[in-house]
Amino acid sequence: MIVNTDNEDLQSLKDMINRQQNMPGISLASGFYRSPLIYQKELQQILFKSWIFAAHISEIPEPGDYVLFDIGEDSIIISHDDQGEIRALHNICRHRGSRVCRHESGNSKTFVCPYHGWVYANDGSLRTPRASEAYVDFDKAEYGLKTVAVQQYMGLIFININTEAESFVPALDLIAKPLGSYDLANARIAHQKTYTVDANWKLCLENYLECYHCASSHKYYSRSHSLKETSEKTEPLNRAMLARAEQITGVTGIGEQLYMVYEQALSFGGCVSHMRYALYDGYETGSEDGKALAPLMGSMQGYDGGAGDFQLGPVTFMLNYPDHCVLYRFIPKGLKKTEMKVVWFVQGDAQEEVDYNLERLTWLWHETTLEDEYIVKRNSAGVNSMFYTPGPYHPEYEELCMKFVSWYLKCLERSFS
Ligand code: FES
Ligand SMILES: [Fe+2]
Repeated sequence: MIVNTDNEDLQSLKDMINRQQNMPGISLASGFYRSPLIYQKELQQILFKSWIFAAHISEIPEPGDYVLFDIGEDSIIISHDDQGEIRALHNICRHRGSRVCRHESGNSKTFVCPYHGWVYANDGSLRTPRASEAYVDFDKAEYGLKTVAVQQYMGLIFININTEAESFVPALDLIAKPLGSYDLANARIAHQKTYTVDANWKLCLENYLECYHCASSHKYYSRSHSLKETSEKTEPLNRAMLARAEQITGVTGIGEQLYMVYEQALSFGGCVSHMRYALYDGYETGSEDGKALAPLMGSMQGYDGGAGDFQLGPVTFMLNYPDHCVLYRFIPKGLKKTEMKVVWFVQGDAQEEVDYNLERLTWLWHETTLEDEYIVKRNSAGVNSMFYTPGPYHPEYEELCMKFVSWYLKCLERSFS
């Protein structure tokens, strides 16, 4: 169905959602990738109510440190305030709405609005506005920067624009054993890079949620990672890896599996999952030659030939090897523009060129992300054609896409009712 995006009416969008719900197992109609109104609803009803990775604590270690996190057309200041608290604040002046903070990151006791000079402390509270004596009955306590919910967990800072959101911690605690083994709170960001893709955010996300494309699109990844095969084929490899994992890594619970994502999440947008899957024999980690790339992370004591695959909220993922961790996050920047951010973590004391080589460390996931960028862009071109017809998801490989779509449609349905 072609949605007339110039003149969208609510009834036609409701019909499109209902039609899609009656076709479980079939990919989304083009209207879901093309409609500005659907995009606005997705931001309001899904992304602005979910837990999303915003920054790592090492990016703002000292009081006064801040970093911006942008989503859609919005900007949020992640601030380490003078009292030592981590805060998340809307980057919107309470006078007439200008962006207050103009630098991507920095250190400052205050944020001074560049428009008329209102000054905010780094906890978001308003100091004295200029010439405030002329305002009648002005209570500056009412004009602090608006807050966003924020939670730090093992050094990962998550935000939720819905300040009433239920805590993310009970869900994260369910994967504390495997996640804790990497000691991310003391890890170091070796590198981070944003790949901007001309595609709707759901195409990027769906692509991450399935490995049907891995064999045909990711030659380096497929050489070393077994996820490209069906679970029946990889079962012996995974069984052998899980049998040795605890002993070799020294981590109790390293193989614990959990899947509480989307409709099964403990709270809205508080998705968590973990599974450990096998690398092929000869691969200690996700490297070109299979050899280790960096010192072991956290409490890891050895290479079991496995990698920990995590989901943390609806759009954040990690693939954690014994010697480095790779975080992936998908953020919409417009109807047809998505930022895929990749963050490479190493052990906190690891030094570049002494303990690891940055090019070797980042090679696999840089190359793999470029491949994903290429295929997702082409996917976008196809689904935006008036001749596109939705097709069947693969029952096993694309099961997670179907779970996402089912949840997504329910969220949308609510927003249109
Ligand atoms: S808009 Fe910020 S001081 Fe006027
Ligand atoms: Fe991929």
